[in-house]
Amino acid sequence: MSNTLTASSTLKLRSQADKQSQIYNEEPLDKKIEHIVRDSKNLHIGVKPNTSKLVFGQPDPEGLTILPETTKQRFVESGIDISRGYPERPSKEAVPVYLDEAFAIRNDDYPHIERGKNADPEKKALFGAATEVIDLTKNVGTEIVGLQLADLNDKQKDELALLISERIVVFFRHQKLSPQKQLELGEYWGRVEKHPQAYQVNGLPGITVIWNDFAALKNQKKYTFKNNNIGNFDSVKYNSGSLSWHGDLSQENQPPGVTHLHLDTIPDNGGDTMWASGYAAYDKLSEEFKKFLDGKKAVFSSAHKYLDRNDPFGGPKRIERVHPLVRTHPATGWKYLFVNREHTERILGVSPVESDIILNYLFDVYEKNADIQVRFKWGPTEPGYGVSALWDNRISQHRAVWDHEGNDARHGTRVSSLSDKPYFDPKSKSQREALGLSLEE
Ligand SMILES: [Fe+2]
Repeated sequence: MSNTLTASSTLKLRSQADKQSQIYNEEPLDKKIEHIVRDSKNLHIGVKPNTSKLVFGQPDPEGLTILPETTKQRFVESGIDISRGYPERPSKEAVPVYLDEAFAIRNDDYPHIERGKNADPEKKALFGAATEVIDLTKNVGTEIVGLQLADLNDKQKDELALLISERIVVFFRHQKLSPQKQLELGEYWGRVEKHPQAYQVNGLPGITVIWNDFAALKNQKKYTFKNNNIGNFDSVKYNSGSLSWHGDLSQENQPPGVTHLHLDTIPDNGGDTMWASGYAAYDKLSEEFKKFLDGKKAVFSSAHKYLDRNDPFGGPKRIERVHPLVRTHPATGWKYLFVNREHTERILGVSPVESDIILNYLFDVYEKNADIQVRFKWGPTEPGYGVSALWDNRISQHRAVWDHEGNDARHGTRVSSLSDKPYFDPKSKSQREALGLSLEE
């Protein structure tokens, strides 16, 4: 009896296998490769090798073993179900295999409302409700005290958007903020970017998990005291992700504007983040060099790579889009330098050698001028409260500082609001020009 059953099951399996192999044989090469990649446990497109421990399409139980108590508390209070694990990676079916599929994601032009554009320049509703407004440096960074982001009305949100576009980054300590509320705020400032590959808070696409400790656990990234800065010397050879100066998602058709990182677990000391101003980076250049760069365009590429359908064995390639190198901000009307080491590949209209030399100089301008940067110390914060940084990703670069060496937990959630289609208005002024500040050389 059991032999008969075994024989029949074997036959059934064989006929399934035959059918499968028939499908494979009838399929064109690109589809065959797609099936092989999707069906394999070990093959992944767009993620680093040595990551077979990755879990797709469901919460990861392993994450719970290191999930900090403060983050757990925030999720429990917000009704986020972490009973099966955390964080969640989109399903493997949703991850593009081919470049053309990845390129098609958010490739449409959509109307963007620039919330800061018509806001009160004096920001009376926002500043009037705050107990203190502290400019952290002359050129970058403002901290607002005495307000809960979750309670802001639309007028205050518009004024905050304008303040962010003037001061690059705005900080709020002592925040009680659920991931859902963070997402809702992000949706007010623009179309929220939903990454097809990044880890997200369970059930909430658009809330990207910023948690290097988890990436280390999954063998994706292992940062040490020795290696954590090497991407700042050569990002092509030694990409060190968020620890290298970069802008987020510059290759998008409409790259992020307001970007909101909320840390709910903060090291007692260390794990700071730095920002640098793109208005000021532009104003650091000589007036002659500005004229040369105005109107130039550059190719921007994605962090993740995908297969070329017409050349699948040519190795994974990055998504590329062309944007102006000098952009105009729609709310302030000021010009800014739109480059960063991670995403800007080459300048159009000059030779590759010239492009490399110019770009490396422009990256240096952002990275080496301490007077156009701010370094923010996130903590300490009271138990049960997190800290928020909201920056305009168009007009800035940022990086994290790994001095805590991963010895203290650090966890955050990020929401990126996509913004305008990049443009350059030749009539627009630089920030210092518009404010009447010295441009003496
Ligand atoms: Fe980033």
